[in-house]
Amino acid sequence: MLLFSVVILCLANNIAGYTAGKAPVLNLNDGWIMPTFGLGTWLGLDQNGGFAQVQDDSVEKAVEVAIDAGYRHIDTAALYNTEPQVGRAIQKKIDEGVILRGDVFVTTKLWNDQHAKEKVPEALKASLKKLNMDFVDLYLIHFPVGTYANNTPDSTDYLDTWRAMIEARAQGLAHSIGVSNFNAKQIDRLINETGVVPSVLQIELHLNLQQPELLQYCKERGITVMGYTPFGALFPSKAGPDAPPPRVDDPALSDIAKKYNKTVPQVVLRYLFELGAVPIPKSVNPKRIEENINIFDFRLSKHDKETLKRFDKNYRLTVIPEWANDPNYPF
Ligand SMILES: NC(=O)c1ccc[n+]([C@@H]2O[C@H](COP(=O)([O-])OP(=O)(O)OC[C@H]3O[C@@H](n4cnc5c(N)ncnc54)[C@H](OP(=O)(O)O)[C@@H]3O)[C@@H](O)[C@H]2O)c1
Ligand SMILES: *[C@@H]1O[C@H](CO)[C@@H](O)[C@H](O)[C@H]1NC(C)=O
Ligand SMILES: *[C@@H]1O[C@H](CO)[C@@H](O)[C@H](O)[C@H]1NC(C)=O
Repeated sequence: MLLFSVVILCLANNIAGYTAGKAPVLNLNDGWIMPTFGLGTWLGLDQNGGFAQVQDDSVEKAVEVAIDAGYRHIDTAALYNTEPQVGRAIQKKIDEGVILRGDVFVTTKLWNDQHAKEKVPEALKASLKKLNMDFVDLYLIHFPVGTYANNTPDSTDYLDTWRAMIEARAQGLAHSIGVSNFNAKQIDRLINETGVVPSVLQIELHLNLQQPELLQYCKERGITVMGYTPFGALFPSKAGPDAPPPRVDDPALSDIAKKYNKTVPQVVLRYLFELGAVPIPKSVNPKRIEENINIFDFRLSKHDKETLKRFDKNYRLTVIPEWANDPNYPF
């Protein structure tokens, strides 16, 4: 009897010794599964509005802390320059016996200057080399606008890029493929022309930009939505002068958080999860990494969700004015 229970326990915990993730998993429309919560690894903007440079191993440390805290999904991109650190941290946790490669879901993305059909497999292989992996779980077209290396739009058609993504998946380089920052019309075009429905759409999603129509569109087609920049303008450091409320100290948010004995960031992440999205908050701070994923032991009331819904102002943080006149610009 005791032996029997031990066997059951080990099975429930994934194979003896390996630890299970904290977030539930969902089924993608292609048969693979995805943990419903991930760690973002983009270091964000510096004071001049440029990309913050990768200067230390803070992302590597963050991914290690995250896996120990029960994260089983890591979001990176060729653009972020964090693939090597993500790869090293995951390898370390595999070596330590904390996870198997199959326990962790890795997402990376194709950057805009690699949209030409023949460049896609090479770009993915370059990412895999940096990650030190032979496949990624999910490969996304980062943006529907193709660009030259100098960041000005080129004349590539994202439909050709999508065909190359389908081919890369067939070669086993990625289990699943999807898109990011595409609008519904652009996704419709992919589906109409290739018959292949993206498994995932990754979009900006937070209290000020809740995107109910696009979420509904994806739900109807079985497309899983990953939500990026989940905190939006919640923290004063990230809120531009035109950013609508709320900030993290908003009394309406504090009241809700107090009621569930949770923090305001946890309430926000839980709300996005209850909208049906997979939030991917970024943090390199161990305490905040642990705080953020601790949202799977409570449920928001209908009334609280209505309060949170009212902050939706269709306010977008990621806009690229230089590309606004390109026919493929999505927003
Ligand atoms: N597909 C796309 O085009 C796209 C665009 C943007 C982002 N993304 C992905 O989405 C991820 C998340 O988006 P994001 O990085 O833009 O923004 P975010 O996750 O909404 O916010 C990150 C900021 O919040 C801080 N933070 C995190 N948890 C906190 C907490 N509990 N309390 C207080 N502050 C906290 C972080 O600082 P600390 O690190 O110091 O904690 C960091 O400054 C990215 O890392 C990237 O992987 C994708
Ligand atoms: C895709 O096909 C649907 C159904 O036939 C049609 O309603 C829609 O206009 C098409 N969209 C595009 C962008 O081709
Ligand atoms: C409230 O949450 C904190 C931090 O997670 C925990 O230590 C504490 O025990 C909780 N209090 C109650 C009453 O559940």
